[in-house]
Amino acid sequence: MSQIKVHDRNFEVYLPEATILEKIKELAARINRDYEGKRPLFVAVLNGSFMFASDLFKQLNIEAELCFIKLASYKGMKSSGNVVTSIGLETDIFGRDVIIVEDIVDTGKTLHEFLPKLQHQQPRSLKIATFLHKPEATTYPLKLDYVGFEIPNKFVVGYGLDYDGLGRNLKEIYQVL
Ligand code: IMP
Repeated sequence: MSQIKVHDRNFEVYLPEATILEKIKELAARINRDYEGKRPLFVAVLNGSFMFASDLFKQLNIEAELCFIKLASYKGMKSSGNVVTSIGLETDIFGRDVIIVEDIVDTGKTLHEFLPKLQHQQPRSLKIATFLHKPEATTYPLKLDYVGFEIPNKFVVGYGLDYDGLGRNLKEIYQVL
């Protein structure tokens, strides 16, 4: 189906499944090369990244570990803005080669606020792999090391990403009409 309805909005296919899987093989090949002889720890950010993390991880042929975390943002009591905390990062990342796995970088706020907290735990290296990036929307400075697709600043669902809870199960990425 090339057009679907999720809640009240219509979406059309933007990235078909085969295109997604091809790109993930490319990303995995780069990671396999870059981390040969190392044992990176992938820290995948729930909920949206579960499909990307799974497909990427299956394509790795190096030794690698994977854990999932959830990030929660709180409105600060003062105007200092949101505080992002991690839920479930129980693995010790000191001295590890860490790769954060995200579904999408939009404004970049979430990762921009979370990265210093990880850096504080002194990993040996810290890189970011994101399935999607909306460069036009990104206002927080972030170095993205592995990017699947750069996309326009339009809302998308599917392949783990949701619109108000729905659409995560779709195999393709759909763009709002
Ligand atoms: P950021 O902090 O603005 O980079 O936002 C990151 C989070 O916003 C992502 O992890 C998604 O959960 C959500 N998000 C941003 N854009 C979209 C979209 O187009 N579709 C679904 N979720 C999105």
